[in-house]
Amino acid sequence: MTIRIGLLGYGTVGKGVIEIIHSHQERIQALLGEPVEVTGVLVQHLKKKREIPSSILVTSDFDRLLLQDIDIVLEAIVGEEPSFTYCKKAIEQGKHVVTANKEMYAIHGKELKELASKHSVSVGYESTTVAGTPVIRTLQQLLQVNQVEKVEGILNGTSNFILTKMRQDGTSFEQSLKEAQQKGYAEADPTNDIKGYDAFYKLMNISELLYGKQPNWDDVYVEGIDRVDPTQILEASFMDKKIKHVATIEWKDGDVRASIQPISLTEHHPLYSIDGVQNGVVIHTDLAGPLTLSGPGAGASSTASGMIEDFITIFQQSYNNVHQFQ
Ligand code: HSE
Repeated sequence: MTIRIGLLGYGTVGKGVIEIIHSHQERIQALLGEPVEVTGVLVQHLKKKREIPSSILVTSDFDRLLLQDIDIVLEAIVGEEPSFTYCKKAIEQGKHVVTANKEMYAIHGKELKELASKHSVSVGYESTTVAGTPVIRTLQQLLQVNQVEKVEGILNGTSNFILTKMRQDGTSFEQSLKEAQQKGYAEADPTNDIKGYDAFYKLMNISELLYGKQPNWDDVYVEGIDRVDPTQILEASFMDKKIKHVATIEWKDGDVRASIQPISLTEHHPLYSIDGVQNGVVIHTDLAGPLTLSGPGAGASSTASGMIEDFITIFQQSYNNVHQFQ
């Protein structure tokens, strides 16, 4: 039997998913014991020219995609809607879902998880947060025995890329942002990247995982990098410091506290040396000590890699369950 995938979105990440599934077909088949194919792709504008193999259905009608008898939906579109409606519908029809949509997941992740459990399917969301760098997976693993007291992270690749270019090469903010867009790091509308909301959604996903709740969104201080002045960057440099966009979440006084803002870091801070599109998280645990994880936080191949890992894990787990109960 072939495992059939319905892909939502054919932007930077969607293209990356199809490319990896084709280039790694043999490897994935060896892992799952069955061939895998992308059966259909949901796009917004049907008329746009795309190089998608003719064997794949290209449609702008989600119900038509579902009729393709797919087993799993890989969702790589942006924003709360129609993403949430599609994911909900897919789950209700017994399909697994993997999403890279940080905003939708921050708002509806809990609900989707509960719904998925009712319908005996799974939801993967590794790529919502720090792309394919396994932050979610690592936190899930650590939480089996550790308490995570605090996480500090550089969670937006575009912001870190811009700050790095401004400091290293003296490139202007506008030019650096343009480059981040050309490289496929920034969102089509980069407002959320540079104003801190992209990092905010990722931090909320981490909060939900760590503490089973999110802080009241109005209580979270969110400041982006759009007001960082080149002079501030230069001044920090003279003092051997770097300005980094840091998101922090911690359990304090019986509640979750969070903030997102540009901060000046000394070389002793583990996030100091994380430059370019790299993201990093410092995880403060009670048993395993402070751990730092870093890797690409944006880009087609990293994000698609995280989604495909989720997809493989979901099927491996469902096979294990079947064997357990047989
Ligand atoms: N625009 C995002 C970033 C993409 O720059 O981090 C990954 O979520």
